[in-house]
Amino acid sequence: MGKPRYHLILLLFILFSSPRIGQNKAYAQGINSNKSGNTTPFDVGVILDNSTWIGNISWGCMSMALEDFYNSSSNFNKRISLHLRDVNKDDPVSSAFAAVDLLKNVQVQAIIGPQTSQQAKFIIELGNNSQVPIISFTAKSPSLSSMQSPFFIRTGINDTSQANVLASLVQHFRWKQVVPIYADTDFGNGIIPHLIDAFAEVDARVPYRSPIPISASDADIGRELEKLKEMQTRVFIVHMEYSLGFKLFSNAKKAGMMGKGYVWITTYGLTDIVDLMGPSATNVMQGVLGIKPYITENNKKLQDFKARWRKRFNLENPFADQVTDPSTVFGLWAYDTVWALAKAAENVSATNYTFSMNNVRNNTTDLESIGQSQIGSELTQKISNTKFYGISGKFHLVDRQLETNNFEIVNVVGNKRLRIGFWTQAYGVSQRLNSTVDVKVHRWPGGSPDAPKGWEWPTNGQTLRIGVPVKPGFQEFVNVSHSPPTGYCIDVFNLVMGSLPYNVAYNYTPFADPKDSNQMNGTYDDLVYQVFLKNFDAVVGDITVIANRSRTPISLCLTLSLICVWWFQSRMSTGRMHGHLPSH
Ligand SMILES: *[C@@H]1O[C@H](CO)[C@@H](O)[C@H](O)[C@H]1NC(C)=O
Ligand SMILES: *[C@@H]1O[C@H](CO)[C@@H](O)[C@H](O)[C@H]1NC(C)=O
Ligand SMILES: *[C@@H]1O[C@H](CO)[C@@H](O)[C@H](O)[C@H]1NC(C)=O
Ligand SMILES: *[C@@H]1O[C@H](CO)[C@@H](O)[C@H](O)[C@H]1NC(C)=O
Ligand SMILES: *[C@@H]1O[C@H](CO)[C@@H](O)[C@H](O)[C@H]1NC(C)=O
Ligand SMILES: *[C@@H]1O[C@H](CO)[C@@H](O)[C@H](O)[C@H]1NC(C)=O
Ligand SMILES: *[C@@H]1O[C@H](CO)[C@@H](O)[C@H](O)[C@H]1NC(C)=O
Ligand SMILES: *[C@@H]1O[C@H](CO)[C@@H](O)[C@H](O)[C@H]1NC(C)=O
Ligand SMILES: *[C@@H]1O[C@H](CO)[C@@H](O)[C@H](O)[C@H]1NC(C)=O
Ligand SMILES: *[C@@H]1O[C@H](CO)[C@@H](O)[C@H](O)[C@H]1NC(C)=O
Ligand SMILES: *[C@@H]1O[C@H](CO)[C@@H](O)[C@H](O)[C@H]1NC(C)=O
Ligand SMILES: *[C@@H]1O[C@H](CO)[C@@H](O)[C@H](O)[C@H]1NC(C)=O
Repeated sequence: MGKPRYHLILLLFILFSSPRIGQNKAYAQGINSNKSGNTTPFDVGVILDNSTWIGNISWGCMSMALEDFYNSSSNFNKRISLHLRDVNKDDPVSSAFAAVDLLKNVQVQAIIGPQTSQQAKFIIELGNNSQVPIISFTAKSPSLSSMQSPFFIRTGINDTSQANVLASLVQHFRWKQVVPIYADTDFGNGIIPHLIDAFAEVDARVPYRSPIPISASDADIGRELEKLKEMQTRVFIVHMEYSLGFKLFSNAKKAGMMGKGYVWITTYGLTDIVDLMGPSATNVMQGVLGIKPYITENNKKLQDFKARWRKRFNLENPFADQVTDPSTVFGLWAYDTVWALAKAAENVSATNYTFSMNNVRNNTTDLESIGQSQIGSELTQKISNTKFYGISGKFHLVDRQLETNNFEIVNVVGNKRLRIGFWTQAYGVSQRLNSTVDVKVHRWPGGSPDAPKGWEWPTNGQTLRIGVPVKPGFQEFVNVSHSPPTGYCIDVFNLVMGSLPYNVAYNYTPFADPKDSNQMNGTYDDLVYQVFLKNFDAVVGDITVIANRSRTPISLCLTLSLICVWWFQSRMSTGRMHGHLPSH
């Protein structure tokens, strides 16, 4: 799949290559805190975007990991030195330049990064050719497989595991249809086939998919949201980065789509937006649910780290008051990644760090003259076998990917996020980690008290008008002196409508005499006839079904309720047939 792009970039290298490429945007910054001179320097490249939170928080955490590791004892024979290349996360070409620069001019023994899955594709191939391990904790796309690339190590999750958690959540609330809204990039697209498979397993359909280009304007997003609003599905999975995600939620609020009946779920890392953007994000995200990997808090190392990192973060970002928690999961993984690498480097026995040029057939292009690391295989092996208890919990790689199991489910309420439950392999969606307890969502969009049905009856935005009889005297069945009316029939109807698997907006209109609101405007036959005249969509009351009234689609009280359920169900299943299953 990646071949055409490979050739394109190859061509670019031939055109632009010069002895020191990558100096235009990328710049080097080394951390070399060697105190005693007895250590062998061990060069590691880092490719991140320092202008994004994910990038600069990760960098901060990596620097701390390095200091902590070499401060933990004085008995080391290697010393890692990190070489940062700061590249735009949306630009795979400059990150490829940065990688070639690191491999050719620094001869790094490993590369941490790149930040996005889109950038990772090509760099993983470079790593494979030069036998240099590429270690990423942020590139989550399942299309990047550590199985196929022997030098790719993922010290974070891949999005397949998120798809399973989302499916459990959808099943838990019995939603039947889900629309994913995602960035139209490798990262965004990568999760889609896995989402569709996971939803199919819990009988939820994906009637539509909504890719959003990263360059989309507010107007573009507004148009797409209008389209979604006209459809019936009200459950949206949002899978994109902060800046685009923030734009999406701002526009959704403007379009009235953060109100009652809607469900929004964010994937990790968008979930972090609440911690990083504060009130501007929570203002437009009330009632949103989010998932993120669960990090055990009962960990002294983590608590100690969080306190120190908070202090240091405040020094580095004096104007970032809105950041409530800079210890993102990506940051913790960044720390543990460097720690693991430092540990593994200590154990590498190969000593010649110069790249071998045996495989170089022709030195006319930069790509071909990189050579091969002589310790890469051993280093990859050592990292794979490294096990320790880090700040993010147990660090343990399986098939060169971090083993992660638990997720937490959060809910945006007021100006913060609350943890409302967990997802675990053993107990699924639950309030507890170690037993099954129903989760309680504190706030749904629009402040609705119950879980939305996730599917709206297509009334074209209109509310169904339900006629009720006006009966002075006997008011047990229907009492219109209250607004909305009360009584046995009304209770039954509300109950039936409430138990439908989707939401129907309706309100009651008393069939009252315009001159005397205590009297009915005619007979029961007249009332039922109003449905035929389309003055009402249905009528509810103590109305007997008799032959001459049965022309109207709905008959009432208990009979009505049963027929009503049948009627909506059959309408829904015909509506279902108009949908189409997306192929993948
Ligand atoms: C690291 O050690 C080397 C050799 O002892 C020395 O030349 C270099 O200046 C040191 N670097 C730093 C940043 O202390
Ligand atoms: C990241 O960018 C900021 C300014 O935007 C700069 O002050 C800081 O030194 C940069 N960090 C690194 C590690 O380059
Ligand atoms: C980190 O990225 C954020 C988001 O773009 C930016 O506001 C902040 O200034 C950056 N911090 C540093 C130290 O570069
Ligand atoms: C290194 O450890 C010593 C004591 O063990 C401590 O005083 C010092 O602040 C530490 N340095 C850093 C950079 O953490
Ligand atoms: C993604 O992660 C799951 C479980 O963590 C694993 O079974 C699967 O092989 C991974 N897929 C890829 C492409 O790495
Ligand atoms: C990595 O390199 C090996 C041999 O060097 C090759 O067989 C394999 O297909 C390569 N993998 C990728 C993803 O390029
Ligand atoms: C290290 O490897 C390079 C390239 O293969 C070779 O030229 C050099 O002689 C080796 N150095 C030692 C000390 O073996
Ligand atoms: C090396 O490159 C030159 C010019 O690009 C070409 O003529 C030659 O055949 C190449 N040699 C090999 C072994 O690929
Ligand atoms: C490329 O190879 C030629 C001869 O094979 C050699 O003279 C030249 O120095 C090499 N160039 C570089 C940049 O290694
Ligand atoms: C590192 O080496 C030590 C001693 O040789 C060994 O006990 C340990 O298991 C090794 N660790 C790794 C990750 O290979
Ligand atoms: C589950 O966890 C809670 C709190 O962490 C603890 O009090 C309880 O004993 C645990 N229950 C079981 C069955 O392990
Ligand atoms: C009352 O009945 C008359 C005649 O049937 C009809 O024209 C009018 O619209 C009705 N008014 C209401 C409020 O239903």
